[in-house]
Amino acid sequence: MPQLDDIRIPEAGSFRFDGRVAIVTGAGKNVGAAIARELHAGGARVAVTDANADWARETARALDPSGATALAFELDVREVAHFEAARDAILAEWGALDIVVNNAGWAKRTPVEEITPEEFDAVMQVNMRSVFLSCQCFAPVLTGRGYGRIVNVTSLAGQNGGTVAAPHYAASKAGANMLTKYFARYLAGTGVTVNGVCPGPIDSAKTRLSAEQVAAVEAQVPIGRFMRLDEIAAAVALLASDRGGFFMGATLDMNGGLYMR
Ligand SMILES: NC(=O)c1ccc[n+]([C@@H]2O[C@H](COP(=O)([O-])OP(=O)(O)OC[C@H]3O[C@@H](n4cnc5c(N)ncnc54)[C@H](O)[C@@H]3O)[C@@H](O)[C@H]2O)c1
Repeated sequence: MPQLDDIRIPEAGSFRFDGRVAIVTGAGKNVGAAIARELHAGGARVAVTDANADWARETARALDPSGATALAFELDVREVAHFEAARDAILAEWGALDIVVNNAGWAKRTPVEEITPEEFDAVMQVNMRSVFLSCQCFAPVLTGRGYGRIVNVTSLAGQNGGTVAAPHYAASKAGANMLTKYFARYLAGTGVTVNGVCPGPIDSAKTRLSAEQVAAVEAQVPIGRFMRLDEIAAAVALLASDRGGFFMGATLDMNGGLYMR
């Protein structure tokens, strides 16, 4: 697993989040950790959450060992109570919440014949229902303050099926894209924006693929490589920033040219 220090963010902090409070799900490693680092480098106080509490703590400690500007929470996105507990603790500690990044996800690539009903439901819960539960929990806090940014990390798989995705993964990410649009419309005019990024293959996926699969994906991507973690973090930072205020309901293509519409 790549450690936080291996995540190269050349321009980390280019988007400013001074005075803002953010929560990132699935931030124990890889994409979520890179997003947490980017927001923190820009001046945000960040609630680093993950189903794996040890990984969340590791990321938060790497950002700020004192805990003043980075706190770790165990948050399994299948659990309503975990969302509520994190919300209450963040408000108690920092008195605010401005930015919600729904990043946690399960990249299952089980062959169609082997997908059980239980696995199908679990993927839907982690990748899609989580976005609904998060918006349901945090939107009232953001609208109450008259400002907010919600950014969902979905997938190219939710747009066109992706490169090596399984059906439940692709369907769950398509659902997450639709929830992005739904909540954008639902919250329009409240000061809260809701957007998503639809990444194609990211470096963090390489460890889950064989060398042949990596080469096959690289050959398919017009840019010829996987996306770096700093690149996805920068896109999320744009949508999460004050300057990204006119994005609304966007599901941002970010796939090296794999899908152009
Ligand atoms: N890696 C890719 O190529 C790629 C491409 C498109 C989209 N994405 C999406 O980007 C996001 C992050 O991808 P990644 O490559 O960093 O994944 P990863 O598997 O490396 O990390 C996911 C993190 O989410 C956490 N997590 C898993 N289940 C959880 C749950 N129920 N509740 C809370 N946290 C949970 C894990 O503990 C882990 O820290 C996911 O939503 C994924 O679908 C990834």
